[in-house]
Amino acid sequence: MKQYIKADPWSIIEEGFDPSLNEISESLFSIGNGAMGQRANFEEVYSGKSLQGSYVGGIYYPDKTRVGWWKNGYPEYFAKVINATNWIGLQLTIDGEMLDLAKVKQILCFQRTLDMKLGILSRKFKVVLPNETVITVDTQRFVSMDDSELGAISYKLTSNKDINLELESYLDGDVKNRDSNYDEQFWLPVAHEASQNHLFLSTQTKKTGYDVGVAASTTLLHNNQPIAAHQFESNVFRASQNFKVTLEAGEEIEIVKKAVVISSLNHTKESIQNQSITKINKLSNTSFETLKQNHIQAWDKLWQFCDVEIGGDVKAQQGIRFNIFQLLQTYTGKDARLNIGPKGFTGEKYGGSTYWDTEAYCIPFYLSTAGSQVARNLLIYRHNQLGKAIENAQKLGFQNGAALYPMVTMNGEECHNEWEITFEEIHRNGAIAYAIYDYVRYTGDEAYLSEYGLEVLIGIARFWKERVNWSSDKEKYVILGVTGPNEYENNVNNNWYTNYVARWCLEYATKVIELVKKQNKSAWQQLKTKTSFREEEVIIWQNIIDKMYLPYDQQRQIYLQQDGFLDKELVSVDSIPKNQRPINQHWSWDRILRSCYIKQADVLQGLYFFEDHFTKEDIQKNFEFYEAMTVHESSLSPCVHVILASQIG
Ligand code: BGC
Repeated sequence: MKQYIKADPWSIIEEGFDPSLNEISESLFSIGNGAMGQRANFEEVYSGKSLQGSYVGGIYYPDKTRVGWWKNGYPEYFAKVINATNWIGLQLTIDGEMLDLAKVKQILCFQRTLDMKLGILSRKFKVVLPNETVITVDTQRFVSMDDSELGAISYKLTSNKDINLELESYLDGDVKNRDSNYDEQFWLPVAHEASQNHLFLSTQTKKTGYDVGVAASTTLLHNNQPIAAHQFESNVFRASQNFKVTLEAGEEIEIVKKAVVISSLNHTKESIQNQSITKINKLSNTSFETLKQNHIQAWDKLWQFCDVEIGGDVKAQQGIRFNIFQLLQTYTGKDARLNIGPKGFTGEKYGGSTYWDTEAYCIPFYLSTAGSQVARNLLIYRHNQLGKAIENAQKLGFQNGAALYPMVTMNGEECHNEWEITFEEIHRNGAIAYAIYDYVRYTGDEAYLSEYGLEVLIGIARFWKERVNWSSDKEKYVILGVTGPNEYENNVNNNWYTNYVARWCLEYATKVIELVKKQNKSAWQQLKTKTSFREEEVIIWQNIIDKMYLPYDQQRQIYLQQDGFLDKELVSVDSIPKNQRPINQHWSWDRILRSCYIKQADVLQGLYFFEDHFTKEDIQKNFEFYEAMTVHESSLSPCVHVILASQIG
């Protein structure tokens, strides 16, 4: 791992500019407010390595699937929250030379800071231009936690010589995704406008038809006096304003750019232009400083409920705050249509889509910090998608209301297209049921079960009922051909975690049926009709519960990750040379699959979920056996391990 971030309890700090790390920094220093996000791209032109990224939550494009060998059951597309209109652009030309950190003569100093307490991204740098002029820049940027449709930039510049400065402030809708499967442009132009006071650009996603409109205003302050734009123009994908100023040596100019980003998710298409322009014009009376203070106050309120203090270890302190910051800026719980992309708004990886990460890893955080409504919204998101989960299972041949939630989704449809994960990593269904259990035990909101939860649990239980098969050899129910959480094993039989969570789902669904029957007879009657539920179903479930096969090794007294796991050469991770880590970057897939090495918690994921089902000795034995072979090549891995490690002391 590259270690170039300075340790600090509240900030992520990069000192000195290394162009080869720029795309990493652009991700690390990303900012967001649940509704939109922005990578830490430079405002000024940068011709070096960079991935431009402005994202609007819920605005996605179904990018046609690309695979080498098509398998029946693969989805047609992968839904991606896509790169949207770039609103941060400021092109600066100094005495005819464009300011571009990739082309300056020398970078005298550079610092990029993400203040996580305040939610402010800032940058300071001093550079020598090819014509020897020394330019100093000081920027601040935020996307507002106070107003989810607003982003703002303050960009201050001084020079050591008298200079002629030209500024072009622009909106650029001609943007692409680097991960586009067919190198397609995902947007169509809708409307554009430029005037002395504002810029406006709206574009529409192809296929899904979402409109996104951005209105921006730019003020150039010289000696506290605004300089008017001398030129403005717009065309289908670009709107810009041009300014000119003569700056004396040592004088400062401040450029303030504000942008309102709205979409047809929350506004009618017809109103987007008018609403965003009205709003940006209204904001002309509010200073950057005031908007910033409102934003800081909103962050401050969030931190009051979320902060975790770690004494004596600044890096650990910085690390945990970074995690909290990411969760808070990715999902605020205000909109049940949104969810948590595994990498938030930091880039294109994982497409901003929903994974089991939400239920298995994120919900506990929101439950304990954000009030029950936020976690409830995340559960309702899955309830809203139950119909699609049933369809998804039907596509794979399941019947009778069996629901298989997708591995990756935006609107409930499966987007993932690797057979060993799409069709086999079915344990995700367990996490969705577990999240309901977790929510109810934490909040005591049992009404959730009759209203929403039980319907989901029945769909999931029905899936497991159909997915198991009776082994007359073992005289047990088995689950064949799966991928557990450890994705470094594919198509295995009887993954202990999957079998365990499947059995638990059947037990929990049965229990909740009993509870709802008792507490709310009429709700149960309604649900029974809605789901065409037959009382015999629970009898069949009980039989599976009683006879589920759970691989176990008597001698070592451990649960077996899967059938045949002990046939592997069991060697601990320390025997892998350092220069071969991470193994997924150095070894062939074949070698990884045959090895004993574990990507992330698998058996231990089960011990973590169901800690009260196991003794401390049990946890300890399994931890010692499996952790030694775990390479932790998913960021979902260390967290589960440290929780268990602290449990066993
Ligand atoms: C992990 C999955 C996870 C996905 C998204 C993968 O590397 O193995 O468990 O859902 O990343 O975070």
